[in-house]
Amino acid sequence: MRILFTGGSGKAGRHVVPYLVSKGHRVTNLDLVDLDCPGVTTLKADITDSGQVWNALTMYAGFDEMQAGQGVQGYDAVVHFAAVPRILIHPDNETFRVNTIGTYNVIEAAVKLGIRKVIFASSETTYGVCFASGTRQPEYLPIDEDHPTLPEDSYAMSKVCNEGTARSFQARTGADIYGLRINNVMEPQDYAEKFPDFIENPDQRLRNFFAYIDARDLGQIVDRCLATDGLGYQVFNASNDDHSVNLTTPEILARHYEGVPVRGDLGEHETLYSNRKAREMLGFAQEHPWRRYLDDPRGKK
Ligand SMILES: NC(=O)c1ccc[n+]([C@@H]2O[C@H](COP(=O)([O-])OP(=O)(O)OC[C@H]3O[C@@H](n4cnc5c(N)ncnc54)[C@H](O)[C@@H]3O)[C@@H](O)[C@H]2O)c1
Repeated sequence: MRILFTGGSGKAGRHVVPYLVSKGHRVTNLDLVDLDCPGVTTLKADITDSGQVWNALTMYAGFDEMQAGQGVQGYDAVVHFAAVPRILIHPDNETFRVNTIGTYNVIEAAVKLGIRKVIFASSETTYGVCFASGTRQPEYLPIDEDHPTLPEDSYAMSKVCNEGTARSFQARTGADIYGLRINNVMEPQDYAEKFPDFIENPDQRLRNFFAYIDARDLGQIVDRCLATDGLGYQVFNASNDDHSVNLTTPEILARHYEGVPVRGDLGEHETLYSNRKAREMLGFAQEHPWRRYLDDPRGKK
């Protein structure tokens, strides 16, 4: 597919874009900064400027397309990751402005240009736990896509707003628009750099429901979204099958979630951030469980 990807130069995008290229897609990156990825052109553009977004979607994706002399092709899909990725980078109102206006601009341009598939980055923070003041318990576990989204902070508010924007554009156009409630993204080097500390101090993972998503497995989820048509508007939790600490799931529940209802039977290391919907509806099958990358995690408990 010919894909416009926003935010491809960031922490998640710089792994997801090469994954999509490896699957045979033609990707154009729209970002404020460059991405070093063979075959991918980066258009430096600002998603908060609607004119730049429309223009980017109606340009050549590279000199080779111009050379062919067949005019500008339409994009088959838009993957929208560009954002301010958390609170405490900009003032709260600026985070909300960039994320909501940017997402409105990207989805509006995509669907009005007739693009029938849009995938956008939402967030685990929509559930309200990650950036809560003090400790806030989920209403039940494992947390799934039916759990209420009532956050307190401007970043997660922007993501909840974006889900509403996406849903409304889907209702108007009938395009497939899928939101990914992405958990904490891990790059390949993070297994050596961060996980030993997660094993030593597991409580630090509480605000992420102890979960994570490998950036390359996130690429697979995006690719599965591109391949799966006809679902209308959907949101999917994006996480790996197991949690990110070296405790069993019953140990985590006993330590942190006393009184929180637990639905169904859980495996020994099964994530509390359910990815069942992505596995069942998209066919996601994780390829990068963290234990593959640490020699003897039990010995480090
Ligand atoms: N990293 C995580 O753990 C995580 C978790 C949940 C959701 N997300 C979401 O996933 C997406 C990617 O996150 P990330 O960690 O790669 O973030 P990142 O900040 O590393 O990357 C975001 C990219 O967007 C670009 N960008 C920002 N503002 C822009 C603008 N106005 N116009 C054009 N480009 C702009 C940045 O230059 C950057 O390359 C974001 O939407 C984020 O909210 C990330």
